[in-house]
Amino acid sequence: MTLALVRRRPGELPVEVTGFVGRNKELTRVDEALRQTRMVTVTGPGGVGKTRIALRSAARVAGRYAHGVCLVELSELRDPELLPHTVANCLGLPEGDPRPPLDAVLDHLRERNLLLILDTCEHLVDACAMLSDILLHETTGVSVLATSRQPLDVPGEHICPIAPLPVRANGGDAVELFAQRARAVDPAFTVHDGNRADVVALCRRLDGMPLAIELATVRLRVLPLDQLVARLEDRFRLLTGGRRTALPRHQTLRTAIEWSHELCSEQEQLLWSRLSVFAGSFDIAAIEEVCAGGPLPREDILEALVGLVDKSVVQREGADGSRYRMLDTLREYGAEHLALRGEQAQLRERHYARYLRLAEEFDRHFLADDQIKRYRALREQHPDIRLAIEYALAAPGKDSEAAALTGSLWPYWHIAGLHTEGRYWYAKITDRFPGAVRERAWALAQSAYLGAFQADPRALDEAEECVRIADHLDDPVVAGRGRVYLNLSLTFMERHEEAARAAEEAYRILEEAGDVVGLVTLETQIGYMQHLSGQLDEALEVCERGLRRLGEDSKEGWVRGYLHFVTGVARFRRGEYEQSRASGATALRIKHELGDGVGMGYCLELLAWLAGHDGRHEEAVWLLGAADPLWAGAGARLGGTSLMEEFHQNAVRAAHAALGEQRCAELRADGARRPQDEVVALATGRQAKEVIPAPRSQTHELTRREHEVALLASEGLSNREIAERLVISKRTVDAHLERILAKLGVPSRGEIAARLSELDG
Ligand SMILES: Nc1ncnc2c1ncn2[C@@H]1O[C@H](COP(=O)(O)OP(=O)(O)O)[C@@H](O)[C@H]1O
Ligand SMILES: [Mg+2]
Repeated sequence: MTLALVRRRPGELPVEVTGFVGRNKELTRVDEALRQTRMVTVTGPGGVGKTRIALRSAARVAGRYAHGVCLVELSELRDPELLPHTVANCLGLPEGDPRPPLDAVLDHLRERNLLLILDTCEHLVDACAMLSDILLHETTGVSVLATSRQPLDVPGEHICPIAPLPVRANGGDAVELFAQRARAVDPAFTVHDGNRADVVALCRRLDGMPLAIELATVRLRVLPLDQLVARLEDRFRLLTGGRRTALPRHQTLRTAIEWSHELCSEQEQLLWSRLSVFAGSFDIAAIEEVCAGGPLPREDILEALVGLVDKSVVQREGADGSRYRMLDTLREYGAEHLALRGEQAQLRERHYARYLRLAEEFDRHFLADDQIKRYRALREQHPDIRLAIEYALAAPGKDSEAAALTGSLWPYWHIAGLHTEGRYWYAKITDRFPGAVRERAWALAQSAYLGAFQADPRALDEAEECVRIADHLDDPVVAGRGRVYLNLSLTFMERHEEAARAAEEAYRILEEAGDVVGLVTLETQIGYMQHLSGQLDEALEVCERGLRRLGEDSKEGWVRGYLHFVTGVARFRRGEYEQSRASGATALRIKHELGDGVGMGYCLELLAWLAGHDGRHEEAVWLLGAADPLWAGAGARLGGTSLMEEFHQNAVRAAHAALGEQRCAELRADGARRPQDEVVALATGRQAKEVIPAPRSQTHELTRREHEVALLASEGLSNREIAERLVISKRTVDAHLERILAKLGVPSRGEIAARLSELDG
C-alpha cells in the first residue's frame, strides 16, 4: 500500500506517500514551540504518529529557516559514536575532514539558520541529547526537532507529547484515518450511518493509534467490517479479562501487531522475523541471500514478501519501488520473534557474510567494467554495511572478520567521500591488532591512504608503520601498497625526493607481486607527483601507461578518472589548453557517473582555471563555487598542495579583477547551490549562457531616471527631498528605490553609493 518511489538526497524531507489526517493542534503546538525555543521533542509511544507530525511540521516551518531543514533518520543507526558522521552526511558534508566530524558539523552549522530533525532518538538518547545540547550552545541559528519515545532531557527542551488520534461517537480523525486506509483495500468504502458504530468501536478499541488502525484495516481484505470488529472485541476481552478498561497504549499497539502477525502465513511470519536483521532498506536479492532457508526456501520468498507488503508490515520504497523497509516498531517485533526462534545468531552471521561477500567482490574486481554498478549497490546498503562491521567487532572472536570486511571496503570510503568514517573503523581494527600482523598493517595502510587525501600529517606515520610491519612479515602486496600511500602522503606534503624514492620501491615490489590495482594507482600518483615537480613529459607518459594498463575500452571509473585528471593538469601546465580541457571534461564525466565527490572537486578546479585562462571569468568562479561544497569542511582543498592552491588563487584573483568582488561572490554562491548534473553539463559542454545567472544588477540596467534617483539617494537625500528635487511624487520615488535596490542587489540605500562606484570602476 505504501509506495515511496522518489529517490532523495541525504537530509531531504521525503514525499508523503499516504494520506495525512488531522493533527492540526499538534502541528500548531510544534510550530509555536519552535518559535519560542530551539529544541523541541515530539514524544509518544511507537506508532502514535511522531514521525509524521515531525515531518509535517518541518515542511510547514521550513520557510522560516534561511537554510531550510535537514532530516536525519536515526532508526537505522546503531552505533552512537557515528551520530556526528551521520549528521555530517545528511548535511551534505563530504567528510573529507581529518578533524572529528562533530567539529566539521559545528563549523558548518555555526553560520547557518536551519532546522535539524533527529527522527527516532529513543535508542540513542544520550548521544542525541549531547549533540543537541552542543548545537544549542555553539550555534545561534540552529534549532532541533527530535522524535523519541522518551524525552532527551536536554536543558531548554520543549516537550510535545503526542496522544493518539481522537475517536468520538460520530467520528473523529481516527475514523477518518480508518476510512482512508480502508479505501486502499476497497475503493468504494465509505463511513455511513449503517457502519459508523462499527468503525467507531474499532477505532476506540485500537485507542486511536494510527499504526494499529492501519494494520487492522488490512483485514478488510478477508473480513467484512462487522466481523472484523467482533473478532477484535473478542481479542481484547481476552486480554482485559472481560473488563471494559483500556489497555496501556503500547499494549494496544502490541495487540494490533500481534493480530496482524496472526494474519500472516507461517512463511510470512518467518520472513518478518528474519527481515529484522536489516538495518536499512533491502531489496529482493538481499532478502533471498540472508533470509531464505529451512521452511522458507528461496522460491517462496517473493510470495511471502508480497504478503507482508499487502499487510502493511513492509513498505516499498526506492526510485523504482524495488527496495523495501519496515517501520521501527514492526522491526522490533520481528526481532523478538527471531530471538524466540533462536535464529538470531545464524541470521546475523548470514547478514555479515553477505556484506563481506559484496565488499570482497568489489575489492577483487575493483578495476572491472561494472565497478560503478557495484559501488552504487554498496552505497545503497550503507546502514547494513555498518551493522555488519559492528556485528563482527562486537561478536567474540570475530576480529579477523571485522578486519576482512573493513579491509575490502577501502575504495568504498574514498568514492563515497566517507574518509572520516573509514578511518574510524580502521582505528578500531588497529586497536584490536596491536602486534605486527597483516590485519594491522592493512588497516594502517588504508587509514593512511584516506588520511593523505585529508592532508592529515598522521597519515605519514601510519604509512611508515605499515611498511615496517609488512617488510617484517615479508608480505609483498602490503609492503608495496604501504609504499604507494607513503608516496601519496609525501607528495601532498611536497617532499618530492622522498616521495620519488617510495614510488620507486613500490613499483618494483608491486610489479613482482603482480598487483595491478596497486600499480595503476601508483602510476596515477607518480603522474601527479611529476606534474608538481615540473616533469611534465614524464607525467603524461606515466598516465598513458596507466590508461593502457586499464585497457582502451575500460569502464572503470575511479583510477581512470584520476589518470585523465592528471593528464589534464599536466597539459594545462604545458599550455596545451584545448587538450587539457578535453582531459578535464572526460575526467569529470567519469567521476560524476561514479559519484565521487572529491574526484569531481579536482576536475572542476582544473576546468575553472582553464575557463579563467580563456578570460571566461564568470564561468571560472561559478565552477570554483560548484567545487566548494565538495571540499566543504575538508580543510584540504586539492589535497592541500601549495602549487595547486596557487592555481586556484590565480583564478580567483583574475576573476575578481575582471568582475568585481560582489559579482564573484554572487556567482560562487550560485555555483555552490546548483545540482551536480547542471554543473557537469556546464563544465563539460560549455553551455555557459544558459546556466550562469545574469548579474542581479548592472548600472546600464538602471533606467536614466533610476540612475538619477540612485545618485541622489547615495548623496543621502531622503525620498521626499528627491521627489521635490525631481518634481515627481514621493510614491514614485519609493517605487524607483525599491527597483534600484533589487537591480543593484544591495539590501539598503546606505550601500548604493559603494555599489555604484564598484560598477563604474
Ligand atoms: N496523522 C496521520 N495521518 C495518516 N497516517 C498517520 C498519521 N499518523 C501516523 N500515521 C501512520 O501511522 C504509522 C505510524 O506513524 P509514525 O509517524 O511512523 O509513528 P511513530 O514515529 O510515532 O512511531 C505510519 O504508517 C504513519 O504513516
Ligand atoms: Mg518514528
